[in-house]
Amino acid sequence: MNFDEIIDRVGTHSSKWDMMEPIYGVSPQDGIPMWVADMDFRPPQCVSDAVKAMHDHGVYGYFGDEGAYRAAIQWWMKERHGWTLDKDAIFTTHGLVNGTAMCLDAFTRPGDGVVLMTPVYHAFARVIKAAGRQVIECQLALEAGKYRMDFSAWDAQMTGNETLLILCSPHNPGGRVWTADELQGVADFARRHDLLLVSDEIHHDLVMPGHRHIPMANIGGVEDRLVMMTATTKTFNIAGSHTGNVIIPDPDLRTRFAARMAAMGLSANSFGLFMTEAAYSPEGAAWVDALVQYLDGNRQIFDDGVNAIPGVTSMPLESTYLAWVDFSGTGMAQDDIIDRVQSGARIAANHGPTFGKGGDSYLRFNIATPRARIVEAVQRLQAAFEDLQ
Ligand SMILES: Cc1ncc(COP(=O)(O)O)c(C=O)c1O
Repeated sequence: MNFDEIIDRVGTHSSKWDMMEPIYGVSPQDGIPMWVADMDFRPPQCVSDAVKAMHDHGVYGYFGDEGAYRAAIQWWMKERHGWTLDKDAIFTTHGLVNGTAMCLDAFTRPGDGVVLMTPVYHAFARVIKAAGRQVIECQLALEAGKYRMDFSAWDAQMTGNETLLILCSPHNPGGRVWTADELQGVADFARRHDLLLVSDEIHHDLVMPGHRHIPMANIGGVEDRLVMMTATTKTFNIAGSHTGNVIIPDPDLRTRFAARMAAMGLSANSFGLFMTEAAYSPEGAAWVDALVQYLDGNRQIFDDGVNAIPGVTSMPLESTYLAWVDFSGTGMAQDDIIDRVQSGARIAANHGPTFGKGGDSYLRFNIATPRARIVEAVQRLQAAFEDLQ
């Protein structure tokens, strides 16, 4: 594994590289894409070998017998997260945006309120609105530069029309690894307001040294209303395989979800299943450990560099490779900040307001790229805001 290797992704139908110019006006020839949440790294060799074995065999028929695939998921969750799960609780969706959409379809009705803790991953609100449900934005509080849950404010916001809550754990953006107390607070809040609780844990393997992710499934008293969502795709950089796991402990909820999967005719693609089985292995685990060390190094360089710009603050990342940077201290308007980042630094970063309430003065920067690019990005950002130094 060589995370320093520069791999040319231009012209590969990469969303991050090939869509940056149409969307942000930043050319991939001299720009740095720091938006879409995928990494500029190859997956571990065991995953590439699994794809190569499929290629070498050369027949791409229907997949049958998910026994080894489900066992690999069970092994990973037990080994890496201390979570024991029933193999029959696992559903495979077309990724977790699809998993979210399937939960809305199975467990809510048009017009229902769906609660988000904002700012949060933008696709949640997109699918909620597209499904004709209402987005209820419960804003996270900022305390000592970090997000904190504000249950008493949120209690006052509930009207009784809300039926489902989506938790992002660890949190994107903001990178919080929620503590056991915070997770217990979410479970209690869900019970108080009779909400189904969907816990999107797609970033659970990318946790910085010194922090430990706790699966919501290991928090007591919530299993009768809980849906867990996990995937190999963020962890191993295989998002193009569009494979995610919706894991439902409660048998009744499972039956309802299974009925909607059947009604939609959904089943998994064989590439995603083979890649998942290969990734959830000791070799995959060793690769993730090395990856996290590398990302932590990028994080330090990026944070030190941008925090040196007066008025700019990067939220301390406990997890994920997505740095959430607040420009409010510069006193500049969002358009001016965006112009300096896109036209001045030639960097494409996600705009904060798309993450909902609380995101206004922020940009989100993806730091999962070879270190040389992080060093270059920091230099460019410092130059773009040089007049503030
Ligand atoms: C919290 C969260 N959920 C889901 C996704 C996307 O999942 P998928 O690619 O499986 O649809 C992302 C991607 O960034 C994410 O951050």
